Amino acid sequence: MARTEDPRTAPSIRWGILGAGRIAGAFADAVTQHTRAQLVAVGSRHRDRAERFATAHGIPTTHLGYEALVEDPQVDAIYVATPHSEHLEHALLAIRAGKHVLVEKAFTRNAAEAEQVFTAAREAGVFVMEAMWTRFLPHVAALHQVIDAGEIGEIVNVTADHGQLMAFDPTSRLYDPALAGGALLDLGVYPVSFAHDLLGAPDAVLAAGTLTETGVDGQVSIVLSYGARTQATLSTTLWAKTPTVALISGTEGSIEVAGPFYTPTSFQVTRVDGRRWTFEQPGAKGLQYEAAEVARRVAAGDVESPRMSWQGTLEVMRTLDEVRRQIGVVYPGE
Ligand SMILES: NC(=O)c1ccc[n+]([C@@H]2O[C@H](COP(=O)([O-])OP(=O)(O)OC[C@H]3O[C@@H](n4cnc5c(N)ncnc54)[C@H](OP(=O)(O)O)[C@@H]3O)[C@@H](O)[C@H]2O)c1
Repeated sequence: MARTEDPRTAPSIRWGILGAGRIAGAFADAVTQHTRAQLVAVGSRHRDRAERFATAHGIPTTHLGYEALVEDPQVDAIYVATPHSEHLEHALLAIRAGKHVLVEKAFTRNAAEAEQVFTAAREAGVFVMEAMWTRFLPHVAALHQVIDAGEIGEIVNVTADHGQLMAFDPTSRLYDPALAGGALLDLGVYPVSFAHDLLGAPDAVLAAGTLTETGVDGQVSIVLSYGARTQATLSTTLWAKTPTVALISGTEGSIEVAGPFYTPTSFQVTRVDGRRWTFEQPGAKGLQYEAAEVARRVAAGDVESPRMSWQGTLEVMRTLDEVRRQIGVVYPGE
């Protein structure tokens, strides 16, 4: 089985971190520990938060405000790690300053916002990618190899769930409609993107959901249909920790991806002829693989990645839009 390239073999790139929150810390650790890239600056709305983050991650420069960060000539690429509602504004800020951008998932609130970002990137000639880190993990590359080799035949069903128990807090971004909270954009984007990665854009979307007291989606079940006999059955919830397992069933066999399917993990292939084998992927967090992809593409002069293309992100956003339309979730100002 072909091996995914070690992130340490990617060229160096100088990162600026936009927003000193939780995932930004995990990204900073992954880049520092597993790539040759440099973290050169962090920008925060609060001076003390920027300084605390810089100290914790060995970053030499802090900026008060995001404008100062994107204007920093030491920075090649900006990592946008703010709530979903802010991604459009912050991605455009970085692009207009001529910076390459990695934007956290969900890429924007909706497909129309995503199109604005890609139009601006095309005009500016900068690299932009959705930080759907799962697409760059070794077990996902191996999954594609197994499927492309015909080991499970024609895919008939993909099942994936992503639920986390998130205590109700109307002030947290997860429950706040103004920050584009809800299960779908935060957690459900993983199973939706996984199905899109394997099967492409669906012909039809069917969704049922239940909303929280704050009006965002607490739980959603989704069926995506492809042609005459292929479906993806996906679910997401803020109200329970679910197994986060993915199952891919085909005419010649099936694959069970151990939970959490969206992090580095193992999978088992079971063929109808009785053969059975396992792909083992030890490791913890895997954010370094997406960071390495950005460095490689930027060095090559590309504006997008074929593994998480602009079209791929737009298709995922259109599915999320359709799910929200059916379950009645609208964010303020949309
Ligand atoms: N890849 C993954 O595994 C993963 C995991 C979790 C989350 N995410 C994604 O990463 C993004 C951020 O999530 P997070 O969990 O890191 O959130 P978080 O801890 O709340 O951090 C978000 C940061 O955004 C900045 N910010 C800018 N405008 C804001 C506003 N109006 N309200 C609140 N914060 C604002 C703040 O930084 P300053 O105050 O420093 O400016 C804040 O610390 C989301 O898109 C989420 O879906 C990805």
